Amino acid sequence: MTILLTGGTGYIASHTAVTLLEAGHQVVLFDNLCNSQRDVVARIEQITGKAPVFVEGDIRDTQLLRTTLDQHGCDSVIHFAGLKAVGESVAKPILYYANNVQGTISLLQAMEAAGTRTLVFSSSATVYGEPKYLPFDESHPTGATNPYGRTKLHIEEMLKDVCASDSSWRVSCLRYFNPVGAHPSGLIGEDPQGIPNNLMPFVAKVATGELEAIGIFGSDYPTADGTGVRDYIHVMDLAEGHLAGLRFLRDHTGWHAFNLGTGQGYSVLDLVAAFERACGKQLQRKMLPRRPGDIASSYANSAKAESELGWRGTRSLDDMCQSTWKWQSSK
Ligand code: NAD
Ligand code: UD1
Repeated sequence: MTILLTGGTGYIASHTAVTLLEAGHQVVLFDNLCNSQRDVVARIEQITGKAPVFVEGDIRDTQLLRTTLDQHGCDSVIHFAGLKAVGESVAKPILYYANNVQGTISLLQAMEAAGTRTLVFSSSATVYGEPKYLPFDESHPTGATNPYGRTKLHIEEMLKDVCASDSSWRVSCLRYFNPVGAHPSGLIGEDPQGIPNNLMPFVAKVATGELEAIGIFGSDYPTADGTGVRDYIHVMDLAEGHLAGLRFLRDHTGWHAFNLGTGQGYSVLDLVAAFERACGKQLQRKMLPRRPGDIASSYANSAKAESELGWRGTRSLDDMCQSTWKWQSSK
């Protein structure tokens, strides 16, 4: 198969590209480089020995997308491109709706024109909002609590409508929990600009000495040690989840949602302890108030992905920290 990856040089897409190339597929990486680097393309080639096609462009350029789909004979699309910083989305909602929602409309128009109707979409556990019960399963009510999350929900709803209108569309919405970790080579990984918003990249920068101490947002949650609990998932497991999501669509039309998580929750302190084991140092930490908008616990019921996709996240928290440390310390 030839697969177009929008946002193709980004964190999750670059790992997925490796998995797809290693499974014998061709990939076309489409990215405007607003949050990634061009040299990722060469690194993917270094890991796999196969050269991905790279097209620099914005997903709102429908014509360029259409030409790219046609020129390379793409059978399917994995749609990663999007902006993802929650705080920024609160400050700049128009930017987020324009990029994420308008960008997806443009992609759907290009796909329709090119006759490519198979799509895997990068959704997020953030669509569940406040937990009514845990673990989250795919039937949990949705209701995002910030503009970023609402762009994901709007896109999911649009995709449902598109599938309802024409039975030749095939769409998997993959609701990621907390992706972390890096490729075992240390050649690709998450590379946030500035001070990271998310826990794992922040901890990694404390370990390299770029940041002084880990700020722990809240120690009075109703969890075992009082810190927030999340379902961290290794990015290579997630990459394999995309391959499984695509395989599923060979035999299924219509709209489908799947949680991609391990089902195991770890606290902030669990993650910090695992990172200390990985880097062999003690990391400074300071307790801070809760971060507004955070929930105490979030973890997946991934039974549907296991039974219908034949996929399960298997890599451990130690693997996640070791691979992050290898990537971060070799940069
Ligand atoms: P990332 O920022 O590393 O990758 C996104 C890529 O999309 C970047 O390379 C960026 O340059 C590109 N891009 C953004 N807008 C574009 C546009 N208009 N045209 C072309 N390219 C554009 O982020 P990631 O962590 O790899 O996330 C990928 C997807 O997964 C996103 O849609 C994100 O919302 C979703 N997601 C991520 C997480 C996470 O924790 N990383 C969790 C849930 C869902
Ligand atoms: C964040 C996003 C969410 C997205 C998810 C994907 C926010 C508010 N939410 O979720 O939309 O789907 O990433 O991975 O950004 N923490 C600290 N100190 C830090 C950073 C985080 O203690 O410096 C804590 C948080 O309070 C939380 C846990 O670590 O308990 C994980 O936080 P983070 O990595 O930001 O992920 P989420 O908040 O789950």
